[in-house]
This record gives sequence, C-alpha cells and structure tokens, in this order.
Amino acid sequence: MANGIESVLVETRVFPPPAALAAKANIAGMDAYRALCTEAERDFTGFWARLAREQLQWTRPFEQVLDESQAPFYKWFADGELNVSANCLDANLQNGRADKTAIIFEADDGTVSRVTYRELHARVCRFANALAAAGYQAGERVIIYLPMSIEAVVAMQACARLGLTHSVVFGGFSAKSLHERLLDTQAVLAITADAQMRGGRRIPLKPALDDALAMGGCEAVRQVVVYRRAGEDVAWTEGRDTWWSEFEQGQPETHQAQGFNAEHPLFILYTSGSTGKPKGVQHGSGGYLLWAKLTMQWTFDLKDEDIFWCTADVGWITGHTYIAYGPLAAGATQIIFEGVPTYPDAGRFWRMIQSHKATVFYTAPTAIRSLIKSSEADAKVHPASFDLSSLRIIGSVGEPINPEAWMWYHKNVGGERCPVVDTWWQTETGGHMLTPLPGATATKPGSCAFPLPGIMAAVVDETGNEVERGQGGLLVIKRPWPAMIRNVWGDPERFKKSYFPPELGGTIYLAGDGAQRDADDYFWIMGRIDDVLNVSGHRLGTMEVESVLVAHELVAEAAVIGRPDDVTGEAVVAFVVLKQSVPGDEEAAQVAKTLRDWVSKEIGPIAKPKEIRFGENLPKTRSGKIMRRLLRTVAQGQEVTQDTSTLENPAILQQLGKAL
Ligand code: WTA
Repeated sequence: MANGIESVLVETRVFPPPAALAAKANIAGMDAYRALCTEAERDFTGFWARLAREQLQWTRPFEQVLDESQAPFYKWFADGELNVSANCLDANLQNGRADKTAIIFEADDGTVSRVTYRELHARVCRFANALAAAGYQAGERVIIYLPMSIEAVVAMQACARLGLTHSVVFGGFSAKSLHERLLDTQAVLAITADAQMRGGRRIPLKPALDDALAMGGCEAVRQVVVYRRAGEDVAWTEGRDTWWSEFEQGQPETHQAQGFNAEHPLFILYTSGSTGKPKGVQHGSGGYLLWAKLTMQWTFDLKDEDIFWCTADVGWITGHTYIAYGPLAAGATQIIFEGVPTYPDAGRFWRMIQSHKATVFYTAPTAIRSLIKSSEADAKVHPASFDLSSLRIIGSVGEPINPEAWMWYHKNVGGERCPVVDTWWQTETGGHMLTPLPGATATKPGSCAFPLPGIMAAVVDETGNEVERGQGGLLVIKRPWPAMIRNVWGDPERFKKSYFPPELGGTIYLAGDGAQRDADDYFWIMGRIDDVLNVSGHRLGTMEVESVLVAHELVAEAAVIGRPDDVTGEAVVAFVVLKQSVPGDEEAAQVAKTLRDWVSKEIGPIAKPKEIRFGENLPKTRSGKIMRRLLRTVAQGQEVTQDTSTLENPAILQQLGKAL
C-alpha cells in the first residue's frame, strides 16, 4: 500500500472545472452533483428506477427495482426485460442517429474506415442472423478472441442480441489461458481471426485457439468462426472452422430483437484474484447497460458532437463498457484503434487525436508514462508538435496515476484547459465508481475525487467501521449498484468469499483496494491490499505466476512480488529456488530467460517477470510462511530494516539481494 501515500501528504494543487464547460455540463456544478446524491440517499430504489426508465428501452417494464432477498446475490430490475443490443443500435436508428458515424476505425497501418449506426446495425443483424441460423441459443457461451476491430464489436453486440453470453479473451493471452476459459465457460462457439496487426507485425491468433482446443475437454465447441484480418495462412479443421464472410453469407440485415431478462448474463470476463485461477466475473444485462450509458453522460459529459476515444482493448472491462456498450448506448461517435501507441512512432495517439478531432480521450497511466519518456527524448513525438485543441476532457483508468504524470497529462495533452477525470473502478464494478465530474469537481492530481451519485463508497477498518479522515483503510461499497458483479461464474462460494467477507457483515462489497479520504473528503487510492499486482494496468495474481513457475521442471519453489516501476506502475519480480543448486551468473541468465518464456507461454507476455532472482531457499517464518514483505524490500534494492528475528533463515536475504 506504499503507492501514493507520499503524494497524498504533499499534494495541495487544486484545479477547478473550466467555467465554460461547467456551464453546459450534463452535471453542472457541485450543487447538481449533490442533488443527485441526495436523491439517491433519500430514495435509493426510486433514484435507480427513475434512471433505468429514462435511459433504457424495456420490452417488458420492470416493477421490482432491487431484490435483496438473497444478498449478496443482488438482483436489479429483475422482472423487467430488454435487449441490450437493441438499446445500443435500434434505439439510435429511431432517435435520428441512423446516419451518424458510430465507429471511426483506424487500422495499425493508418487506414481509416467508418460505419454509421445504420451500417453497424445491419452488420450486427446479419451476424446475429447467422448465429441464429447455426442454431446457437440464448444462455450458451461464446469465446471471442479477436483483435481490436469493428468485427469485435459486431461479435459482442450480435451475441448480446441473441442472449448468448460472451467471454472475450484478450489477444495477448496464451493458448493455456484460452483453454482454461473455454473449459470454465463450456463455450459452444469460438470467434477468432487469422492474426492481428500490431506495430507493423502480424501476430497469429488462430493457432493459439487451435492449440487450446487440442488440449482437450472442449467438445462443447461446435464451430470456430474466423475473421480474415491479415491474410495469413492458417491451419483448417474441416467441418469445424468457417470463415466469417461465409458464415454470414446471404443472411438478412434486419433482425427483430427479443427481450431478455434484466439479470440475464451478458458476459463473463476473467480477471485475476489473490488466489487460484482467474475468476469469471459474471455481469447482467439491464443494470450493466444502464451504468455504461449513464457514466458516458456523467463522467465524460458526452454530447452529440463529441468524438470519444477510449484506447483500451476490448479484451478488458474498459473496452467492454467504454467501447462495446457505453458509447453505443449513448449514441456517441467513437474511435477504435487497432495498433499500439508507439507505431510508427510515439506520436501516434496525438496524431490520431489531431486527425479525428477527438474531444474526449481516455487512456491508462502506463501509456502516459511511457509517452512522457518518448516525448522527452524526441520533440517530434511530443504532444506540443500536434494540434490537440479539439480535446475537452481527458481521462485516466486502470491504476493510480502519480501526480507528476497527472500534471504532464493535464499540461501537455489537456492544454491546461481539459479536466482530467481519474476514474477508479474494476472489472467487478462494471463501470466508473469514484471519479471527478468534468463540469463539477475541482480536481487534485492523483485523487479520483468522489463517488458517483448512488454509489455508497466508504473507507473502513477490518471490522467494518468507518475510519477517520486522513487514515488509511479498506475501500468498500456499502450498498449494491446496478452494474455490480452478479457472481463468479460457476462458483458462488468464491463470489461470497472474495467480495462480501463475513467480517464486514456479508453484504458490503470489498473492493480489494486500500484508500484514504482527505480533509475535503476526496478519495485517494493506495493500491491493492491483496496479492494482486497491477502491471501496466493489467491485473495479475502473484499466486497465478507462482504456480506457473513451480510447474516448470527446473523449479522447486517460487515467490512473486510487485516492485514499483516508473513506466508499468508495478513490475513482476520472481524469487526462485531451483531443484538443482543456485546457478552461476551465466547459467542464471539462461535459466531466467527459459522461465520468462515459460510464463509468457503459459499465461501471456504481460505476466513475464521483469526480473528473476535465484536463491537456495526463500525467507520464511518458523511456521513456513514466505515473508513477502521482506522480498519487496529486497527487490527494491533497499536495506532490510524490518525485524527478521522470526525468520528461519535470515542469511538468505543477502543472497536474494543480489540482482543478476
Ligand atoms: C486499479 C480496470 C487507482 C485498482 C477498470 C483496481 C485504479 C484495479 C484506478 C481494477 C484508478 C483502476 N486509480 N487504481 N483510477 N482504476 N485501478 O479490474 O487497484 O482491470 O482494483 O479494472 O485497478 O482493475 P481492473
């Protein structure tokens, strides 16, 4: 929890919302914000019912707002029915946005294509008709393993249209990770591409899916639909594999969407927890969509003229809520980008903001930090070399943003005129929870400010009592909210244990982050309180990496910790005990490479340890518990000042202190 504590103590800068923006904002001023909060406090269910009726089209109106009878398995709008995709597409055809651009897609090589709402609707309908014709039925699960593309959105929306529950797997995940997800979801269909294009390179996708399917236990998968992106030669399994274009050939471009229950599982998205395998976070339909749409309007102050750009991948929750669903539900024009921020050079983001006249830009601190470095080295890729005057709001997500990166972003990208919305939320929360509002909140660099209206956030101690201002504690949400996680797929016990611990009463949501509130009530996130790392905004369980390491034939034991990193926020450092003796320098470098490649193959490149250190054993207490606290100190090259008297083997610290 060391992350950012110092910044809280020194940060005194405050940036009021720009008057012109505030005057026209969807939530204009703190009084408007407070009025919404008060409405939610006075009549919690009335507040949510009003919004759900105003914002969404229901094929069967709900009467029941919140069902708490089986808490923490909360249900929202449970007797109502709606179609998520119809709310994102058909609704915009009816309200005059048919010819509005829905997506501006920029490919890795810079090629730009656009689709209007009418065209997107037609493409989703055609693909949905193909799925229906092939016999797929509501409630069945579909794995989507696609690059950033219009097709990824079409696939997700088409699933939603038919009530098929999708599970998108990030393109950087390995065959093994895909296999776990195929098994856990018991998917009946997989949608992939031949390859993806990133940074001028072709990165194969289908081979990983083929490998995953060959690992066994995936007999439920009836078909693999393949989008031809790169023109790459791919192995073909006759009878199982079909090209996207052939799959949807001849299908009509209209489709009458049917309503599904508001609680129907829209998607499952896997995310790392502190123990065991990644958890399948299960989201519902009505409540999730309501929040995706509302937060577009509140946090990003979305107006019809806006050009919205969220740089996340659709394989993460940010890409689900702020690419595949939120912007469409809100009728926005959005940019979708296939490539990477550093290709053809590190000015790519700024050049794209300039050429597409983006007005709202939403990215991750890790991207900002790496672009700071590049632009310090080369003025040509510095934001100052581009016209970014179209921007009016800039946002941050995924990890704590350090005040200096915030200031750089504010000054160089936001031109000191755009509010920075530092949004705190999680895969499990479905959408933004704590964030400044661009037309209301005075921002403080490094703080995600206040809870959105209706979100009852607090900082408590281990027994659930609220701590005093200025004290650190656990971040919790005291009341349910519509977009919350509904279950851990297939594992209700894990759902209860992970998020609603009995020590806090069993009905309060425990976020897993440490936080503190300052004297002005601003929230400051202090980082995870559990064994979850945040590397470049990607969540990784230390246990997950450890179990992969010990599965290697050379390894006897492993401990994984996070070390603060200038660019990636945290970096993975692994302490490894080999079955053979401690290797000499040359051999150590070789074994380290073997193990790094192994982790990459088993989980994905994002999980690769930045550093591996070898020792005869690990620092343990006499009861055999690995002292990770000490390892963290050692990994940072600091002197161990903590009490080591309980250590079984204090001498080991010196050995592990030696970097390769
Ligand atoms: C961290 C991403 C500080 C936090 C949407 C959380 C943040 C985890 C912020 C969720 C922020 C996310 N400030 N920390 N603005 N946003 N986090 O599930 O530790 O990939 O628990 O969801 O990222 O990561 P996830």
